[in-house]
Amino acid sequence: MNITVEDVRQVWEGRDGSNLVALDGFTHTFKSGRFSCILGPSGCGKSTIAQIVGGLETPTSGKVTIEGANKAGSASVMVWQSQNLFPWRTVIDNVAFGLEMAGVQKAERADKARVLINSVGLTGFERHYPSQLSGGMRQRVALARALIMDRPILLMDEPFGALDAQTKIVMQEELMRIFDETKKTVIFVTHSIDEAILLGDEVIVMTARPGRIKEVLAVDLPRPRSVEMISTPKFGALFDRAFHLIRDEVTKAMQEQNVAAGAAS
Ligand SMILES: Nc1ncnc2c1ncn2[C@@H]1O[C@H](COP(=O)(O)OP(=O)(O)O)[C@@H](O)[C@H]1O
Ligand SMILES: [Mg+2]
Repeated sequence: MNITVEDVRQVWEGRDGSNLVALDGFTHTFKSGRFSCILGPSGCGKSTIAQIVGGLETPTSGKVTIEGANKAGSASVMVWQSQNLFPWRTVIDNVAFGLEMAGVQKAERADKARVLINSVGLTGFERHYPSQLSGGMRQRVALARALIMDRPILLMDEPFGALDAQTKIVMQEELMRIFDETKKTVIFVTHSIDEAILLGDEVIVMTARPGRIKEVLAVDLPRPRSVEMISTPKFGALFDRAFHLIRDEVTKAMQEQNVAAGAAS
């Protein structure tokens, strides 16, 4: 399912009535079965574009077309940094939630949930509550809850952003394995250069606000990927290129924030 984003512009209205251009002229085709990473400084509109593709927001102008989907949002499912698990539901009931909403019978949804719980390595924790799990485990539950919907498009907005470095690596490896198995179309938002290159088939580098595409880097590292690839020359060259592109944008974003802070004080 190719996702075509054409000339998307998003203007947010601030509380004081002023307009903020979050995205401007964003045009890209996210190819079916490809892992695309969106990389950019904080506030450049990464979450905004993910939400627009997921049908959670309607762009001010421009168009998103999802090949073969009749309704925006029906082809995709989203995973966020904050997992938004229901604290009063067990792991299995959190994972099965979407199927429950879809009216799937209890036995069937429990069976499916167990398969997904197993695929994210949480077998044995079905009856635990979110508060009894570590951050990494909760993020696995969130991933299983998204994967159970079996939508062709997986949207991930900094899903590992709150995890410690070691847990993050384990989760990245898990996601790479799941991607190789399921071949979904993935749009993965991150501000981490390493993560974008390690996971992506392409890295879409964005400019500071208003967010546009600065450059698209093709990542020709072989799959299956592994964290060890970070130390290869090819990875290093891609990192340098991405870093060079993003450094100017981060500086620009920081300057803008300073100006805004100055104006506010
Ligand atoms: N719902 C909203 N209403 C008003 N402003 C918003 C809204 N969502 C995001 N913004 C603003 O739009 C800009 C881009 O936000 P976002 O897409 O969240 O950036 P990123 O995910 O790259 O950090 C930011 O300045 C943010 O404050
Ligand atoms: Mg964001």
